[in-house]
Amino acid sequence: MITKQDIVDKILVGHMEQPTATAEAFAPSNIALCKYWGKRDVELNLPVTSSLSISLGKLGSRCRLSFCNERDQVILNGEELANDSTFVVRLSQYLDLFRKEQHSRYRIETENTIPTAAGFASSASGFASIVIALNKLHGWNLPDQKLSILARLGSGSASRSLWQGFVEWHVGEDDEQGMDSFAEPLQASTWPELKIGLLVLEAGEKEIGSRAAMHRTVETSQLYKSWPEKVNQDMAKLKQAIATKDFDHLGATAESNALTMHATMMAAQPPVLYWLPQSVTTMKKVWQCRHEGLPLYFTMDAGPNIKLLFLEKDKSTIINKFPSLVIA
Ligand code: PMV
Repeated sequence: MITKQDIVDKILVGHMEQPTATAEAFAPSNIALCKYWGKRDVELNLPVTSSLSISLGKLGSRCRLSFCNERDQVILNGEELANDSTFVVRLSQYLDLFRKEQHSRYRIETENTIPTAAGFASSASGFASIVIALNKLHGWNLPDQKLSILARLGSGSASRSLWQGFVEWHVGEDDEQGMDSFAEPLQASTWPELKIGLLVLEAGEKEIGSRAAMHRTVETSQLYKSWPEKVNQDMAKLKQAIATKDFDHLGATAESNALTMHATMMAAQPPVLYWLPQSVTTMKKVWQCRHEGLPLYFTMDAGPNIKLLFLEKDKSTIINKFPSLVIA
């Protein structure tokens, strides 16, 4: 079996180490309009389908990386984390892929500008910012596609967090090594009037992480069979909606894509249901707004929180209706 380490070694071959003392990076969070849900290779985070996201501007993760001596040190939002915390263990395992004898440990200072583990994809921006910082710290000078693959090995959705704007993560055809499964910005596509807002309904840790929920869905959900076809259709619709700046088409497609993803997980055994009563109340409120003529749509990831999609011109109306909205 091909391992993550094999892929990292393949990517780094021929890239000289030219280390600096410290490196800093920022990566934006991203929200998928067409979701990544399901892996065809769990070790390499190779997806079953392509996916398409929009980045969250200033909301994301900042990372400052340097080498240190005895053990990895992780400082998250100003606080040093215990070495046995889930986050440090996961990060250290990831960093194991890159260690060189003379620089064997890292000090990682990272700050999230969005709630961690609340379904706002902080792992995506977290891993992406670490990959950018690693590239600078070691002086590898890797091209973006390779950085995207390295971020993918940390967390699938991190492959899309290296850029602002619309980003497509290609499913790729290389089932053995996954060297063609990377993300890149959607060509010639900016849409400054399109806004995304975050509604934090519950900021605590989730009962089940996306990794386990995804795995369970793929293995046990009858509805998962129809997911790849749904993604194919939605990818085409979203690209068309972006090209023609058709907001209703984009919003309706993204909302339907998210609801279908949640339907596949609810049909898993045991079922995965991230929704809280307030998630449902919020969805119904969005539908009521739309019924009254306001162009407003939502999307949701592996958590109970809701992201609203709307246009700049409706911003103040929407803030009035959803006062706690955090706009990216
Ligand atoms: O990258 P992961 O393993 O955290 O999975 C993310 C999955 C979703 O957020 C639900 C969908 C997506 O495409 O971001």
